[in-house]
Amino acid sequence: MPVVRLAPSLLAADLGRLAEEIARAEAGGADLIHVDVMDGRYVPNLTFGAGLIAAARKATQLPLDVHLMVEEPERYLEPFAAAGAAIFTFHPDATRHVQRHLTRAHELGMRAGLALNPASPLDWVEDALDDLDLLLLMTVNPGFGGQRYIPASTAKIRRARQLVAQSGRDIWIEVDGGITPETIATAFHAGADTFVAGSAVFGTADPAASLRALRQRCAATA
Ligand code: DX5
Ligand code: ZN
Repeated sequence: MPVVRLAPSLLAADLGRLAEEIARAEAGGADLIHVDVMDGRYVPNLTFGAGLIAAARKATQLPLDVHLMVEEPERYLEPFAAAGAAIFTFHPDATRHVQRHLTRAHELGMRAGLALNPASPLDWVEDALDDLDLLLLMTVNPGFGGQRYIPASTAKIRRARQLVAQSGRDIWIEVDGGITPETIATAFHAGADTFVAGSAVFGTADPAASLRALRQRCAATA
């Protein structure tokens, strides 16, 4: 059975009960906690910053998987590292010196990821693979939770898996957006190993049970 990492997204959590929500996800076997940072510029929505990351850090030992949907993500390298981010993933079209920022994330003790929107080509990461720990493929357009998985994503996940295999590096392939018990197996079979889920976890009555169900969907079809 290939690896399945589940990363519930706090975007769909009840923030008034942040620690409790994280504890429920942890009890359900979450591998990472996904934190969606939006600046109201790269995407229309506005969400969290270093304060929320620091609060989440206190609530769990799980690695914080921070996804920056912001312009000039490099401005947050130091503050997010200090707040306790374990993974720093940004969109290459939001900045200029992509390789420099990946390297800086490593210097600060974080893992480094790049995120691609549905219409952003895989070519954008091809020359950065040596410095990459994680490739995040958006399976919806970023900005909001609760959207539907875009079917064309599946072929892109397959191509990403080939690219990573050719690189010979252990780069995680994370999918983000519209991941549900119905879509997770498709993404898993196409080659994804890390799965963000917001509404399919925190939008349900029992997040721990929902996480277990997501994992079972992969196991059942492996
Ligand atoms: C969307 C965010 C996602 C979001 C996913 O821009 O990057 O991480 O939380 O939400 P769901 O799982 O509800 O599609
Ligand atoms: Zn995300």
